[in-house]
Amino acid sequence: MIKIITIIGARPQIIKAAAISRAIKNKYSSEIEELIVHTGQHYDANMSNVFFEELGIPLPDYNLNVGSARHGIQTARMIEGIEELLIKESPDYIILYGDTNSTLAGAVAASKLNIPIVHIEAGLRSYNRKMPEEINRITCDHLSTLLFSPTKTGYENLKKEGFIHIIASHYNPDNPGIFHCGDIMYDNSLYFSDLAESSSSIISENNLVKNKYVLSTVHRDHNTDIKENMESIFNALIKISESIKVVLPLHPRTKNILKTDKHEDLYEKIKSNRNIILLPPVSFLDMISLEKNAALVITDSGGVQKESYFFNNPCIILRPETEWVEIVETGNAVLCGANFNKIIEAFEHFENQKELKFPKIFGDGKASEFILKTLIENNK
Ligand code: UD1
Ligand code: UDP
Repeated sequence: MIKIITIIGARPQIIKAAAISRAIKNKYSSEIEELIVHTGQHYDANMSNVFFEELGIPLPDYNLNVGSARHGIQTARMIEGIEELLIKESPDYIILYGDTNSTLAGAVAASKLNIPIVHIEAGLRSYNRKMPEEINRITCDHLSTLLFSPTKTGYENLKKEGFIHIIASHYNPDNPGIFHCGDIMYDNSLYFSDLAESSSSIISENNLVKNKYVLSTVHRDHNTDIKENMESIFNALIKISESIKVVLPLHPRTKNILKTDKHEDLYEKIKSNRNIILLPPVSFLDMISLEKNAALVITDSGGVQKESYFFNNPCIILRPETEWVEIVETGNAVLCGANFNKIIEAFEHFENQKELKFPKIFGDGKASEFILKTLIENNK
């Protein structure tokens, strides 16, 4: 039996972990035992608990309850907690997702204990080291033993950084293996798509009409923490709301900052706008339902820009660059940063653009199985 510890902490990691946990339960339960460690990076019920029951993920075996803090403090607390658990549980592998502080903490703790790291979502790069996520993902990749990239670009990025494609019977930290395997988030979107349609009532609850609203999410520090960027983005959404409803499930980071004195007027304008539907963070099935039925998505989220593509919707990306370059190259997404004019121009562009094509570039919905098979093979 292979023992793995999975580290989750932020909302998207809980969702991603569902794909792997499901594959273990359905296909590999006699070969793999999974323990889940929640760092507590996200802790509001609608940023964490809501996903476990809805997505059928086993509840965490441990919760470190680190909560929010500056990067150094938060990451240090996580490292301390994870190290202790790794010593106690002595797993064969640690699975880390994406690029959050929970990912970084897991990578530092496991690498010092010589526990092989499986990095899911390896190789993605924005080539912008001002992003905390870029630091986290580069560090994690270079400490990993098995690196699974969801895209061809991610795989090529790893090669550019010196990783070599080798076929070995056993990989280790000095001899890591890199794989292009498709996207586990695509696995999830396929799996939950019909269920979302049948069980979510978010569209009717909010009196929405299919294809007659824009879905937007904002949470990147570069957008929320710089006053001009926040104003520019939300003023663009207000402008867009003159022609179509805008649905805005607010990330707690964004809400907390909007509520401060420096954004008092802006927040009032948003709250009193009858064409902007402000929601708390929604469940994953509600989110998928909102994504499937939207006319357009406007977001700075990594996950949401991709899901927009999975469900054949155009996307305005509120960032100057993206790790998911393919969705821009195919013409289905436009990079606008926090630039008011660019956002409005992109909105008008997509309003008149009806013939978009969405080639399948995120795998076949079986990335999780590939990852687990590889892991089992590597342990023989
Ligand atoms: C984190 C990740 C980011 C990811 C995002 C997903 C890092 C460096 N950033 O950003 O890559 O895209 O999660 O959503 O790891 N807060 C609450 N309740 C919660 C969680 C957060 O109120 O349950 C508020 C707190 O004020 C906190 C702020 O949100 O200070 C930011 O939370 P944090 O986890 O530090 O970063 P995110 O912006 O969520
Ligand atoms: N999501 C959700 N409810 C919301 C907003 C997002 O379930 O109110 C899901 C979304 O469908 C995607 C993931 O959360 O799967 C993306 O997380 P987030 O935008 O917080 O982080 P990022 O992907 O940018 O790291």
